[in-house]
Amino acid sequence: MLLSSTLCALLAVGKAWGQSSTVDAYVASQSPLAKAGLLANIGPSGSKSMGAKSGIVVASPSSVNPDYLYTWTRDSAVVFQVLVDQFTLGIDTSTRGEIDNYVASQVIIQQVSNPSGTITTGGLGEPKFNIDETAFTGAWGRPQRDGPALRSTALITWANFLISESNTSYVTNTLWPLIQNDLNYVAQNWNQSTFDLWEEVDSSSFFTTAIQHRSLRQGVQLANALGQTSVVSSWSTQAGNLLCFLQSYWNTAGYITANTGGGRSGKDANTVLASIHTFDAAAGCDALTFQPCSDVALSNLLTYVNAFRSIYSINSGLANNVAAATGRYPEDSYMGGNPWYLTTLAVSEQLYDSLIIWNQQKFLNVTSLSLPFFQLFDASVTVGTYTSTSTTFTTLTSGVKTFADGFVATVAEHTPSSGSLSEQYSKSDGSQLSAADLTWSYAATLTSFDARAGVIPASWGAKGLTSSCSISTGGGGGGSSSGTVSVTFNVDATTVFGENIYICGSVDALQNWDPDTALILSAANYPIWSTTVNLPANTQVQYKYIRKFGSSLTWESDPNDVINTPSGGSFIENDTWR
Ligand code: NOJ
Ligand code: NOJ
Repeated sequence: MLLSSTLCALLAVGKAWGQSSTVDAYVASQSPLAKAGLLANIGPSGSKSMGAKSGIVVASPSSVNPDYLYTWTRDSAVVFQVLVDQFTLGIDTSTRGEIDNYVASQVIIQQVSNPSGTITTGGLGEPKFNIDETAFTGAWGRPQRDGPALRSTALITWANFLISESNTSYVTNTLWPLIQNDLNYVAQNWNQSTFDLWEEVDSSSFFTTAIQHRSLRQGVQLANALGQTSVVSSWSTQAGNLLCFLQSYWNTAGYITANTGGGRSGKDANTVLASIHTFDAAAGCDALTFQPCSDVALSNLLTYVNAFRSIYSINSGLANNVAAATGRYPEDSYMGGNPWYLTTLAVSEQLYDSLIIWNQQKFLNVTSLSLPFFQLFDASVTVGTYTSTSTTFTTLTSGVKTFADGFVATVAEHTPSSGSLSEQYSKSDGSQLSAADLTWSYAATLTSFDARAGVIPASWGAKGLTSSCSISTGGGGGGSSSGTVSVTFNVDATTVFGENIYICGSVDALQNWDPDTALILSAANYPIWSTTVNLPANTQVQYKYIRKFGSSLTWESDPNDVINTPSGGSFIENDTWR
């Protein structure tokens, strides 16, 4: 009795402080187990790949409750991104055979006609296939448009490495056609509705938009390097539109709303995963691309983590500056609605990525938006810039490191000695639940550990991007910003394929009537096009919608539309194109 209560007290202390040695030990023992677990799920020879074809990643060998014996384009790309990153950075160069097999398998999979269509009619948006490379024809949340973006990003990382090794012919003949198929799909369809990465909400989704943006930027660079310049103008234009649209997910309560539909709080691991999957160390703490250490992404992380503190009993009693178990989103009820390994690890990874940047640039900025996050580690910190020689910098970065390690320690606490990781762990007792040996759980372990060790993945071109669509963060400390109103513009407009609807008007937030920088609307609920903008409160605002198709631009007929904004809160304006 005495022993166990002493142990409990020690563990409770360990949770808050000084757990880096615990985490060091876990990283050392779990790294090889996670790598082995991941490779076991890849056909044809992985020990748990259950007869999957060569290069095919099984999401999990679990075939009942839930049945995950399929290959998802998303999961597979995330898994191969890890192997490609580790190979190209020289961390593990033993997986060339697997990478070659993956490429060959995707050459086949891309061509498989499926319920989403053929390769030319939308089939690339199909979320999952049978592990013998045939179509899955059952009912499912389709399409899921993140798949082609994630896959092309993994393949481009590989292509860039091979070019640096002068293996350009394989890149041109084998990788480029695959990449071009995926990116033409992204460029043509990004503004159509999609199921989110959790396969539930059919709308627009932050994760999907963020990784689509990244994929097109990388695609443009590769196209230029290979002299494939015919795609450059269309991909660049759509990348600009995606970056603009990405800004619209921010909301004045200080976090990113994960999906435009779904009727939830919008607090979702979707957003944290987007930040780590679009990390580019060259971009520093850039807010436009929601880099891990940007004030927007840190404010978002705090909101996301806190959403799970009161709903999982394994989190009870933990102070706000102590890591907690996190799941997909607080309203989740799938398989009981529990914490997930990959989402808890994603939080640690965003924090480790941030530490890489702060240590590299030798300063960190505390803004009014990120102040509540930094106050977790120093209650008296104020808005300002802290250089690495200051005690505040040391206090904050060591606090963040301990916090980050706490998320890994949470995962460690619920990992059996075999190192096996399922999809979820119980919100009430931490035991493993849902799909056993989830390949993505192993991938998430490896990327978090690499980030903790300071590993910097290749840049993708986030540095120096600009957009006329900047977000209004209101200068508030995460509360509703005073003086602005969140206005959603919906306009019913029938368009032809390739045509888009924009808005501009009489205030800064509507680009001061400049049609060239007008804000693009989302067609996720076509024929209703929409966007949400923060406008000054108590103001008469004039605006018009514009349609753009190629180089042609058409204004709505006169007169200007007018709204008088209320004194605060949010407001929905429903219009019909004139
Ligand atoms: C299966 C999907 O894979 C999962 O993400 C989802 O939560 C459930 N279906 C319920 O829709
Ligand atoms: C359910 C998850 O929600 C989804 O993201 C994943 O692709 C599948 N399971 C397969 O792991």
